[in-house]
Amino acid sequence: MCDTCKEKYFITTPLYYPSSRLHIGHAYCTVATDSIARYQRMRGKDVVFLTGTDEHGQKIETKAKEAGVTPKQFVDSIVEGPKGVKDLWKLMNVSYDRFIRTTDETHGETIQKVFRKMYENGDIYKGYYEGMYCTPCESFWTESQLVDGKCPDCGREVQPAREEAYFFKLSKYADRIQALLETPGFLEPASRVNEMINNFIKPGLEDLCVSRTTFKWGIPVDFDPGHVVYVWVDALFGYLSALGFLNGKPQDWEKYWPADVHIIGKEIVRFHAIIWPAFLMSMNLPLPKHIYGHGWLNFNGDKMSKSKGNVVDPYLLAERYGVDALRFFMLRTFPFGSDGNFTNESLISCINVDLANDLGNLVSRTIAMVQKYFEGQLPLEQQEDEDKDGELITEACDLVHKYAEQMDKFALQNALGEIFKVIGRANKYIDENEPWKLAKSEENRPRLARVMYNLLETIRICAGLLRPFIPDTAEEILRRLGNPDSSWESMAFFGTLYRDAKVENGSVLFPRIDMEKELAELEKLQHPAEAPKAEEQVELPEPKAEIAFDDFEKVELTVVKVLSCEKVKKSDKLLCFQLDDGTGTPRQILSGIAKYYQPEELLGKTLVAVTNLAPRKLMSRESRGMLLSAEHGDKLTLIMLDDAIPAGSRLG
Ligand code: ME8
Repeated sequence: MCDTCKEKYFITTPLYYPSSRLHIGHAYCTVATDSIARYQRMRGKDVVFLTGTDEHGQKIETKAKEAGVTPKQFVDSIVEGPKGVKDLWKLMNVSYDRFIRTTDETHGETIQKVFRKMYENGDIYKGYYEGMYCTPCESFWTESQLVDGKCPDCGREVQPAREEAYFFKLSKYADRIQALLETPGFLEPASRVNEMINNFIKPGLEDLCVSRTTFKWGIPVDFDPGHVVYVWVDALFGYLSALGFLNGKPQDWEKYWPADVHIIGKEIVRFHAIIWPAFLMSMNLPLPKHIYGHGWLNFNGDKMSKSKGNVVDPYLLAERYGVDALRFFMLRTFPFGSDGNFTNESLISCINVDLANDLGNLVSRTIAMVQKYFEGQLPLEQQEDEDKDGELITEACDLVHKYAEQMDKFALQNALGEIFKVIGRANKYIDENEPWKLAKSEENRPRLARVMYNLLETIRICAGLLRPFIPDTAEEILRRLGNPDSSWESMAFFGTLYRDAKVENGSVLFPRIDMEKELAELEKLQHPAEAPKAEEQVELPEPKAEIAFDDFEKVELTVVKVLSCEKVKKSDKLLCFQLDDGTGTPRQILSGIAKYYQPEELLGKTLVAVTNLAPRKLMSRESRGMLLSAEHGDKLTLIMLDDAIPAGSRLG
């Protein structure tokens, strides 16, 4: 179908705050959105999947100052740098179509025009703000909204604040917003509707402060430049500026707006389901069709947060188990609308049970049997047995409808549940038909061929429908089946695969993991060895002779980022690093720390190097400098810095 005839589908993730590295919780939200976007593409829609970053505000300004860099340098390193936001989406195989940064010039143009327009039509007015402000959330609260005197969103301390500010007449839209919230399907899951009405609409909507004067890092109000636009006006209109609204680039907002769905976390439902529609009403623009507020991924029962030190690193997990296993685990294990509790046990068990045992085994057993009994290609002569085949075929045929019903409700876990019911049924079908017995007599060959065909066809349908969730593995399974038709339409037809299908072998899709060993290993990686306890006193080295300040000044200490790192062959000590030292040419340094680190855990890390040491050769490779590390007893730790510090910065 040509692109212009296709039905459009505009789907968004929130625009993430690049105030620190993103963690698995952020990846959960994005991977879920990616799966929905991929599903809609499979349905033949013209999908625009938007993600991005929300880069202004006091928090970023403060963090950049602490790191000694400009706010723009700070956000650039977290968005574009190694292991940054874009890197993470690449790792997680996120198929976004557009990425909006609120520091994009075109975005600034949109925001200034929007602010002016809402001001000119009388919805924004100037006044004074007096209230309680939560800096981490960038939110003003009234006394009545505070919970135990603290921020109702994050539970942290709030400070009294008074400043000249512009206000948006949110109160004016209260009735229309209530009606909107009560429109079935607008805000999902439905439980969030009552939350919004009881907590925000019933107590009465107050006008919203939409400008700040106490910090500079934001988009200035063009007709009153002492004010910067409130981050939520700035961020929310990112959904439209990315479509070229009021900035002409790329100018397709009329085609794609309104959003078909905004996928967001539960704590920002208020901004999306109340404030955002009111802004749009003020601008006379159509409203998003759906807002889906998903639950949080907690870690061992606690909300993941950098300050609690319990954030789960997606790089570590993706490297160990593969991206598809990680994507699958998040969407299969937790109901999308509710909170989920991430534990290492649940991750490993999900990989072992669903992926290795059920899916992996079905594919490898079936293909191995086709290889063994038919040398990889089925004969045309096949014999059906309605009694024995009927149930599997009906279930496989019905799957696409059940799956679509769940996907259309964003019930991702249930959609996967439907697929795995059929996978389970197929595994049972093998046991019921005992192909190894059929293989014993020549006479049963047509029946054996049909059993194999039914299994391959079921696998084709399941793999086709698994594509939005585990894209690479699903493609690999289809490849092993000889790349059969896997279009959406073909998913409802049992019998699409050629009768004389030819299959190919491949490596194990998901190796089984030894739970106990792996848990111990993960524990070590996620909580690296703590400092030695008092009783494990280690002998400190002798102090060195004093040196003159001038001597110290001769040492050039440079901030470097790890571009790549590998073990040096035939050496059990050396790691060879390629480092970004800010010069644009990678610097190679060899370091004798292989005993302490796996190369992959150092990728993207920010380290310190002595960069004016005379070069020397180690194992026939040139080493240009030395990485700083701290030694204590038999432990060695590389000196790592905040990732926001740019490569090439000098220490002194
Ligand atoms: O809220 N589990 O950005 P953000 C699940 N800039 N989801 C999680 C999570 C977890 N542990 N931690 C975070 C913002 N998230 C604004 C959005 S949109 C115009 C502006 C989700 O980086 C969170 O629920 O703080 C939210 O939906 C998203 O990550 C972005 O959070």
